[in-house]
Amino acid sequence: MIPIRMTEYPDIETPLPAVLRGKLRTEVFGRYHIEFLAKTGSTNAVAIGLAERGAAEGVIVIADVQASGRGQMGRGWHSPGGVGVYLSIIVRPPFPPREAPSINLIASIAVAESLPGVEPGAITIKWPNDVLINGRKVSGILSEMRVNDDRIDFGIVGIGINVNNAGGSFPPEISATATSILIETGAPANRSAVVRSVLESFERHYRTMISSGAGPILKRWESLSGFMGRRIRSVDPGAVITGVASGMDLNGHLKITDEEGREHILVSGDIEVIGD
Ligand code: BTN
Repeated sequence: MIPIRMTEYPDIETPLPAVLRGKLRTEVFGRYHIEFLAKTGSTNAVAIGLAERGAAEGVIVIADVQASGRGQMGRGWHSPGGVGVYLSIIVRPPFPPREAPSINLIASIAVAESLPGVEPGAITIKWPNDVLINGRKVSGILSEMRVNDDRIDFGIVGIGINVNNAGGSFPPEISATATSILIETGAPANRSAVVRSVLESFERHYRTMISSGAGPILKRWESLSGFMGRRIRSVDPGAVITGVASGMDLNGHLKITDEEGREHILVSGDIEVIGD
């Protein structure tokens, strides 16, 4: 394959508000204020600040570079300029905090439905919300939430997508497990188009969740997940559970059935597939 140098591609894809809004077919998400930052620490941190000052559901924060992108479990998120999508969405859902994990599921479905040029069969979601192409991570989601009197004041859905990262450009600690749309398809993707698609898909599934509950979301998520019915191990230190991934409950928690037929509920953590 001929190596692709990103300098060959003009900066058509910077997801500037005007470019984004141009073709966006949503009613709420990305329709009001879009906070675009050429560089910031973390779009989630900025979005939390906006939400605390009363920003409405649908306001989004997007950056070209993050200096200290936040990842799951206190990890960072590799966020170089010009190649990735770093997006935070403010939500103010009407459902109770125990149903909040379904927002992550919605976000991961939205990303899985927004990877241009990637064979659908190559895309899987690894619980709770990593999106993989051919088994390598292309996107991660970090939601942060503020709860008041047992209701969700606001949630921030932070989405990172490796779009045009070149092969060999990831730091050593993730080079074996990370990928990008460019690496997988051999073609650069337009970041604005990816953001638009994520927002449209997110809004569609979010509305379904509000009108019909989590049932349809869980079905869609399970069809995209690469491991339902397979043997898995939860890799949380201290609480290793081995068994078959048997489904998801209405709160987005993973059900694992062990050898004795006992059902365990995994609320958070990491899993690995260990067999068919
Ligand atoms: C993960 O570790 O898998 C989650 C990564 C989430 C990264 C995104 S990038 C946009 C938003 N802002 C952040 O600081 N983190 C999330």
